[in-house]
Amino acid sequence: MVHDPLLTPFQLKHITLKNRIMSTAHEPAYSDGGMPKERYRLYHREKARGGMALTMTAGSAVVSADSPQAFGNLHAYDDAIVPWLKALVEDCHEHDCKVMIQLTHLGRRTGWNKAHWLPVLSASPVREAAHRAFPKEAEDWDIERIIADYAAAAQRMQAAGLDGIEFEAYGHLMDSFWSPATNRRSDIWGGSLDNRLRFSWAVLDAVREAVGPGFIVGLRLVADEAMEHGLSREEGVEIARRLADSGKVDFLNLIRGHIDTDAALTGVIPIQGMPSAPHLDFAGEVRGVTGLPMFHAARIPDVATARHAIASGKLDMVGMTRAHIADPHITAKVAAGREAHIRPCVGATYCLDRIYEGGGALCIHNAATGREAEIPHVIPRAEISRRVVVVGAGPAGLEAARVAGERGHQVVLLEAAARPGGQVGLITLHPRRREMVGIVDWRLAEIERLGVELRCNVLAEVDDVRALAPDFVVIATGGLPQEPEAAAGLARSSWDVISGELAPQGRVIVYEDGAGHAGLMAAEMAARGGAEVELVTPERSLAPDVGGMNHVPYMRAFHELGVRVTINTRLASATRAGNGIAVRFKSDFAPGWSDERQVDLLVADHGTTANDALYHALKPMSRNLGAVDYAALIGSGEVFPSRQPGGAFVLYRIGDAVAARNIHAGIYDATRFGIRY
Ligand SMILES: Cc1cc2nc3c(=O)[nH]c(=O)nc-3n(C[C@H](O)[C@H](O)[C@H](O)COP(=O)(O)O)c2cc1C
Ligand code: SF4
Repeated sequence: MVHDPLLTPFQLKHITLKNRIMSTAHEPAYSDGGMPKERYRLYHREKARGGMALTMTAGSAVVSADSPQAFGNLHAYDDAIVPWLKALVEDCHEHDCKVMIQLTHLGRRTGWNKAHWLPVLSASPVREAAHRAFPKEAEDWDIERIIADYAAAAQRMQAAGLDGIEFEAYGHLMDSFWSPATNRRSDIWGGSLDNRLRFSWAVLDAVREAVGPGFIVGLRLVADEAMEHGLSREEGVEIARRLADSGKVDFLNLIRGHIDTDAALTGVIPIQGMPSAPHLDFAGEVRGVTGLPMFHAARIPDVATARHAIASGKLDMVGMTRAHIADPHITAKVAAGREAHIRPCVGATYCLDRIYEGGGALCIHNAATGREAEIPHVIPRAEISRRVVVVGAGPAGLEAARVAGERGHQVVLLEAAARPGGQVGLITLHPRRREMVGIVDWRLAEIERLGVELRCNVLAEVDDVRALAPDFVVIATGGLPQEPEAAAGLARSSWDVISGELAPQGRVIVYEDGAGHAGLMAAEMAARGGAEVELVTPERSLAPDVGGMNHVPYMRAFHELGVRVTINTRLASATRAGNGIAVRFKSDFAPGWSDERQVDLLVADHGTTANDALYHALKPMSRNLGAVDYAALIGSGEVFPSRQPGGAFVLYRIGDAVAARNIHAGIYDATRFGIRY
């Protein structure tokens, strides 16, 4: 057997990490009242089951009450957390997965109008753009109490049986003292590097006194803010060197960049279409300078790159964080020689964008993540094998076929187009979003393994379905672009632009009323093709269902290409005017207001209309008449009521064939129905 560097153990102080794969700190916002309860525990337990050596729990568990949650952060300042963490640790230890936790004071990276409404503070009163709070300058008594809070939190973590802790020192309070961009002080906490490090030493000394020299303590630190007036590479590396020389820390976890704006955050956590492993070499350099064990994560989504990171000696532990949100069983699959079966992280960053919108982290194409209590990551076989026909091989239909295949059913998947993929095929025509193809390709490989019969170029009609004598029929026929009524038949759809069927020229309005990616993609692609584009939306912000991280490359392109954006403006009418179109807008706010543009082309995105003719045609023949018992679906019991006992099959529809939604919704539909028979 060939030696795999990823699977070699690593000795960190007194603990043996059984391989080199870890998940770095990330707050999935599954906490309940600041506590890591069942959902949190099961989420980490699944990663432990999947074979990783170390899970860094929490993302920025907060040490003080004046560091309120920014996105569901755990309350490390509360004694009540100890038993919850203990249970989580025990579950992970059962699978020989070590557990640590990230602790922090968020400093200015949170809001004042939350929790106890305590003022936000930082080294100096410099506002952070992303969270918008204007912080006060930390006073002597603040610094004293926060140092004590760090020590008390560390002690709680030790009491909970954690294998170690790391302090977050990028974009939070600790490093706000380090960076010239955020530390403008002239007292003993500012000025020279010695002074700027004083707070960190005080924290480390207090923590060491509280937990003793044996406990594992590390730092996730920025060693180069890569911005004007920020912490320079020289000073950052010098900080890392001093930390190593002090003997007070056991590992470093390297960060490069800054996180005070959405755009900057994508430099630290790149999304799809951005470079992979951009800071890996730098991590290797800092490892060389310090000699400390080095952890690092930044878009190392695939096993080959992870293996290179370890084999080349750049890292001791490789973080594959989103990769494990997509597939918590990566290590087990590598160890079993089943690397090709890993569900790929496609970098969509739906997971992270959701937590900033107040939701929990969900993977765009793994419905089980964060829902471990209701959906198993490994689909069990059903007791009875059925005949299942799935119509439509977009992401929802492919997932329905995969799940049915895993259940041991005999599955036929019918697709009208020449190739499977549905709307994902369209998305991947956008150069930055090509990786989305992984959603389709992984499922195609899985259904082939499972013996699903895929038939393309079949525009299924009732007789085609009936001829297969199915027990279950799943309609996943998707939708077609819906034109806003006011466009009066004069608008082309965003799909026409994305597909390349239309090459917009001249003056173009893209009316974005779908809240998602499609309108933005169309506007960008039209502008790249040379059109003069104005994107108009009735929303009060741009495409609100596209999260902050995904917003970044669109806005970058819009600024570079000169796409104008007009918000708060609703389409009123469109009429032909010569060779062009006169587009009139109205306001939801000021009834008499109107505005007009003469354009060459009007493109509209207004979601999709369900492609549901086959569903309605099959409905009268089905046993459940298409009905679904939602109470049973979200709880337990028979999901498909028997409304016509003599009916030939059970029928249900999923994804956009029901109504316009997103990829996750379609895949979640497919999985949760599929595991019920
Ligand atoms: C949902 C989510 C929440 C995160 N929260 C934190 C956090 O609180 N603290 C932190 O240091 N990093 C956080 N991260 C960043 C990850 O630790 C990691 O650096 C990042 O995802 C890049 O690694 P990857 O490409 O392997 O995913 C978060 C990431 C995700 C996806
Ligand atoms: S949502 Fe996208 S980035 Fe996040 S884990 Fe899933 S595939 Fe990866």
